[in-house]
Amino acid sequence: MHKILIGVTGGIAAYKIPDLVRELKRQNFQVKVILTPFAEKFITKLTFATISDGAYTQEDWEDKPLLHIELARWADVFLIAPATANTVGKIRNGIADNLLLTTVLAYNKPLLIAPAMNTVMYKSPQVQENLKKLKEWNHIIIEPEFGVLACEEVGEGKLASKERLIDWIYFSLEPKHLKDLKVLITCGATREFIDPVRYISNLSSGEMGFSLARVARWRGANVKVIAGHTSVPEPPEIQITRVNTTEEMREEVLKHYDWANIVIMNAAVSDYRPSQTSPKKIKKQEKLTLELVKNPDILEELGKRKKHQFLVGFALESENLIHYGKEKLIRKNLDLLVANPTESMGSKNHRGYIITPDGVEEFSFSTKLESARFIWDKIAEMLSKRP
Ligand code: CTP
Repeated sequence: MHKILIGVTGGIAAYKIPDLVRELKRQNFQVKVILTPFAEKFITKLTFATISDGAYTQEDWEDKPLLHIELARWADVFLIAPATANTVGKIRNGIADNLLLTTVLAYNKPLLIAPAMNTVMYKSPQVQENLKKLKEWNHIIIEPEFGVLACEEVGEGKLASKERLIDWIYFSLEPKHLKDLKVLITCGATREFIDPVRYISNLSSGEMGFSLARVARWRGANVKVIAGHTSVPEPPEIQITRVNTTEEMREEVLKHYDWANIVIMNAAVSDYRPSQTSPKKIKKQEKLTLELVKNPDILEELGKRKKHQFLVGFALESENLIHYGKEKLIRKNLDLLVANPTESMGSKNHRGYIITPDGVEEFSFSTKLESARFIWDKIAEMLSKRP
């Protein structure tokens, strides 16, 4: 179980942190919290003591003088949220006049710092210079968001969302196997329009592709996602380009193909499209025949144009998974293929086979995130053996 230490400082966004702690506990993290004296004016120690694995304030430090060392050694990840301008300035200058700041000095890994403050304060040269210096020291600044602030001004300064804060915690914990690799991932379902309001599509939720994108980012890759229609939340901190049709997806993928070191075609691409798209909504009639024409096979085209890229495909099959999978691996000139049974589409859990020129490996996980980690382990292993 990973150990997360959260430093809460005296900003109004402190009221959001108990919710973050609850979510981290739900995701099986151990969580301890340090409150600065000013944070205690916004939120009580009792709140955190009730929901976390330990809450600490200045008074605890007076009773236990080595508490800062103990907490710094305990933490796998140290997040400061919200980080006020005052705390940011003090960290930058090595000031250690409370338990939180002293623990920061005793901690020898990169910190996660999530500033939250009034937008004018955030943009001030003092705060910006301090943040710049902290970045130079390899600390991660989780940029605040744009929105209505507590002071009723609108601007940058809102504490990063819970989802983003948690995503950065995962980032901090993951090994950087894919550092600096450029990864292009497609996901979701393409839509082929019959008329302006009707289309042919499929059940893909996009969850597998988004999970692959999250894990790749956590492991240090530069990730771009091209997504059709999806029905699960978007992964934070990742560039996503939206497309509708297979032709749009093809164009977008080809635009980025030379840039990418690794391409994963996870999208559930429509194999056919109506031969004509009516510009007007089609009126009801006794009988309607749709003529479908074949769409380009994007992956096959990528296989033909392959130079340096490591190419990954997915296959969804009702039967003979391994047989058809092996055939697609060769036909589409892939380095790796993930073959899934049809019930994987749109479902939470995930099982299937990883098929490479070297062999076949079965996997079964209760979440797509676990499958994504397994697939990336396999890709990293294969890349490490490349000359
Ligand atoms: N794919 C693609 N372009 C298409 C169809 C599929 O790029 N027009 C990609 C998918 O993203 C996936 C892989 O090809 O990575 C396999 O798709 P699948 O539909 O299972 O295979 P097909 O080759 O279309 O064969 P079949 O439908 O006959 O099983």
